[in-house]
Amino acid sequence: MKVGIVGSGDVAKALGAGFLALGHEVKLGSRTPESEGLVAWKKQGGAHATTGTTADAAAFGELLVLSTHGVNTEEAIRQAGPKHFSGKVVIDTTNPLEFGADHMPKLAYGWSDSAGERVQKALPDAHVVKAFNTVGSPHMFQPKFAGGPPDMFYCGNDAGAKKTVHEWLKKFGWNPLDVGGIEGARLLEPMCVLWVTLGITGGNWGIAFKLLHQ
Ligand SMILES: NC(=O)c1ccc[n+]([C@@H]2O[C@H](COP(=O)([O-])OP(=O)(O)OC[C@H]3O[C@@H](n4cnc5c(N)ncnc54)[C@H](OP(=O)(O)O)[C@@H]3O)[C@@H](O)[C@H]2O)c1
Repeated sequence: MKVGIVGSGDVAKALGAGFLALGHEVKLGSRTPESEGLVAWKKQGGAHATTGTTADAAAFGELLVLSTHGVNTEEAIRQAGPKHFSGKVVIDTTNPLEFGADHMPKLAYGWSDSAGERVQKALPDAHVVKAFNTVGSPHMFQPKFAGGPPDMFYCGNDAGAKKTVHEWLKKFGWNPLDVGGIEGARLLEPMCVLWVTLGITGGNWGIAFKLLHQ
């Protein structure tokens, strides 16, 4: 399958490497597709790893991933061209984080709104599913934790798109958990604040969430 990733940071590279390892073609999209870091990523990824503009990546992908800086995501979507997302499943990994003077994470907006909902509003013809936003990029593919596969919470409005993402999450080594419509991002994005806070205060980023059942 052709996977287009709008983004060029750690998440884009980690998820891109995961899709490549599963045998898929991946194009990462950036405003600087020939930057040193992306050229190195392509070299490591092999023949199925390419880069382009964000519009190139969005047009290329049959499945799309959005991994752009949280509060600049709507701007990145405008640059990539919403028409390229039309009818496609879009995995939204973004978190609208901002860091205050105390260097601790906060939501730029949330509780009655979310990045997931803003992305879905900016892409009305796409099927947005929020996922992969509650764990660090080094653990996104084949996470290895003492307690077994961690949970990956996801949400979105389209049942078919969620089924697709559920299957991808399993292939990536997660136990997927559906939390409902895209407004569930109001819950999942604060989970990122919790995870980052624990990473900073505990000095250990090798952490992931798991529900315990009776
Ligand atoms: N890092 C993690 O471990 C992690 C884990 C879970 C979720 N997340 C979330 O996933 C998203 C990506 O995180 P990241 O750490 O990989 O990267 P990041 O540093 O948060 O974002 C980098 C990406 O944002 C784009 N960008 C920044 N400003 C832009 C603007 N004004 N217009 C258009 N594009 C812009 C960059 O585009 P160019 O390539 O053109 O510069 C680049 O692709 C974030 O929303 C983050 O909160 C991160």
